[in-house]
Amino acid sequence: MRQPSKVWLFLGLAALILLLTSVIRAQQKGDGCVKCHEDEVKAFAADPHATGKTTCESCHGNGAEHAAGGGDRSKIFSLNDAGSKEVSAKCLECHEKERAKFEQTAHSKGRMSCTSCHTVHGAGGSKHELKTTEPELCNKCHKDVPQQFAAPVHHPVNDGKVSCSSCHNPHGEVAAKGMKKTERFSAECKSCHKEQAGPFKYPHAAVNVEGCMGCHAPHGGDTAKLMNRAKVDTICTYCHAPALLVKGKTVNGHQPGGAAGTCISCHVDVHGSNSSEVFFDGSK
Ligand code: HEC
Ligand code: HEC
Ligand code: HEC
Ligand code: HEC
Ligand code: HEC
Ligand code: HEC
Ligand code: HEC
Ligand code: HEC
Ligand code: HEC
Ligand code: HEC
Repeated sequence: MRQPSKVWLFLGLAALILLLTSVIRAQQKGDGCVKCHEDEVKAFAADPHATGKTTCESCHGNGAEHAAGGGDRSKIFSLNDAGSKEVSAKCLECHEKERAKFEQTAHSKGRMSCTSCHTVHGAGGSKHELKTTEPELCNKCHKDVPQQFAAPVHHPVNDGKVSCSSCHNPHGEVAAKGMKKTERFSAECKSCHKEQAGPFKYPHAAVNVEGCMGCHAPHGGDTAKLMNRAKVDTICTYCHAPALLVKGKTVNGHQPGGAAGTCISCHVDVHGSNSSEVFFDGSK
């Protein structure tokens, strides 16, 4: 009778393990919740959170008392009832990467939470679980922005070639160390506009001073090449006082009313040059 007891012990252990894993698996699939929340449980199966490790209770807390009480709302963490800070704090328990800067964003300060833009239930498999796709997602609140992208010159946001989040980080700034805000924007611009990005042997210091936005408007406007002022010369003379130019060099184009065309008709490579300190066209 010695041998069988070992068998029983083994069988008992195996049964226990089986029971435990099935309980865990049941929790993961939301089996304890399904009889009352069928829709959520079904939707969750296709959710990126259904990795096996994240359960209903990872976000809603322990649901045993809630379930036993026939659905007592006060015994479950409802993200609908919670304040924006509480909701974000819950998400940030796992989403370390977004934590870094989110709390400093205008969005967080403006009492928005992760669920202002994301929905983890029934997003219908949308990319990154966004409530709607960009730019609609952002335009819904930023009502003055769409008209800027409807201007004659604009970044092709509505064609889907560029999105709001190509330039904006919805979770906060990722400014490289010590960089200015405007320089950060330039880093985004440079990632697409290689030709203007350099590096150049003779860079135009304007780019370091105010970034691309020293001369360009980012969204859209009436001026060709997205210039931030109607006349290119007035952009240049905003930083290069005309009086100083006259004093420094007796150049036709530097005289007030000089007939030699705009600044960029001579200073062609205005983003920087590898052959000319004053950005004349290197090919000539
Ligand atoms: C990753 C976090 C997360 C997980 C996991 C999660 N939920 Fe939710 N749940 C939320 C959020 C956030 C809301 C608030 C509604 C919204 O923003 O979509 C919510 C809302 C709900 C609601 C209210 C109905 C509604 O749509 O507003 C129920 C019921 C619910 N969840 C049940 C469940 C069940 C059952 C599971 C497991 C199958 C589950 N949740 C898994 C985050 C989660
Ligand atoms: C016996 C049925 C039952 C079971 C089992 C049950 N719930 Fe509920 N649950 C309800 C009812 C009913 C409500 C609505 C309560 C109210 O509005 O006062 C509710 C509300 C909720 C809410 C809040 C919904 C909101 O509007 O934000 C969440 C979240 C939730 N349940 C999650 C769960 C999770 C997770 C489980 C499994 C661990 C679970 N429930 C199991 C019946 C149940
Ligand atoms: C203002 C809207 C907005 C808010 C608020 C927001 N997100 Fe996002 N989130 C987005 C957009 C847009 C994307 C897709 C970005 C892309 O396509 O590059 C995204 C992508 C993500 C991704 C997947 C991409 C990645 O970087 O890993 C995760 C995870 C995420 N968000 C989590 C969160 C969390 C957690 C919070 C709250 C702390 C949050 N989000 C708040 C708009 C938002
Ligand atoms: C218990 C940990 C945990 C909690 C809490 C949690 N998440 Fe997640 N989240 C994950 C895991 C794990 C994944 C899937 C793997 C991945 O993409 O990193 C994921 C995926 C996502 C994605 C999709 C990422 C992509 O690349 O498309 C988004 C968006 C997201 N979570 C947002 C949220 C929001 C919003 C909340 C709060 C309502 C939340 N999460 C709460 C762990 C968590
Ligand atoms: C639910 C409404 C809402 C949604 C959705 C939303 N925003 Fe915002 N956004 C706000 C509010 C509120 C503020 C802060 C108020 C303000 O300063 O104008 C803000 C501020 C901003 C700012 C200014 C930040 C600053 O530091 O001054 C930018 C840029 C921005 N949002 C971009 C976006 C982008 C990109 C998206 C889409 C991925 C988006 N927003 C989605 C409401 C929203
Ligand atoms: C090509 C890059 C780029 C794209 C695409 C872009 N933005 Fe911007 N946006 C910027 C820059 C750069 C600024 C800052 C301008 C400044 O401070 O001079 C800005 C500023 C903003 C502001 C703050 C405006 C203010 O007056 O303070 C909001 C809000 C905003 N953008 C929303 C959006 C939304 C919504 C979308 C998509 C529909 C979008 N942006 C697409 C680059 C971009
Ligand atoms: C000192 C002012 C100034 C700065 C700073 C500046 N640009 Fe420009 N950019 C111009 C001018 C002027 C034009 C128009 C040139 C023309 O019409 O030939 C232009 C044109 C462009 C064009 C259109 C090129 C074409 O051939 O259609 C792109 C793209 C561009 N700039 C990107 C950038 C980027 C990216 C930055 C930041 C790294 C930047 N610019 C910084 C003045 C500037
Ligand atoms: C995701 C890629 C992307 C990013 C980031 C981006 N651009 Fe562009 N940019 C484009 C595309 C695409 C066009 C349209 C080119 C075309 O139609 O030939 C464009 C056009 C332009 C033009 C010429 C407009 C015209 O119609 O003549 C300028 C100037 C410009 N971008 C400057 C910037 C600046 C400044 C930034 C940063 C605030 C920036 N871009 C960020 C992709 C990008
Ligand atoms: C945001 C300010 C700013 C704007 C706008 C600007 N510049 Fe500059 N530019 C600078 C600075 C700073 C320097 C470096 C001056 C120095 O080193 O003494 C510079 C240098 C130059 C130089 C001489 C190169 C050198 O190192 O001496 C030329 C030529 C020039 N800019 C032309 C232009 C033209 C043409 C425009 C208009 C398309 C323009 N700049 C717009 C800030 C600006
Ligand atoms: C007809 C051609 C021409 C035009 C138009 C022109 N420049 Fe120049 N610019 C020159 C020449 C030539 C130099 C001197 C180059 C040298 O020193 O080798 C110069 C030098 C400069 C310098 C460097 C000054 C210094 O002290 O080193 C700046 C800055 C500058 N120009 C800005 C401008 C601005 C701003 C405009 C428009 C208001 C403009 N230029 C229009 C030809 C022109």
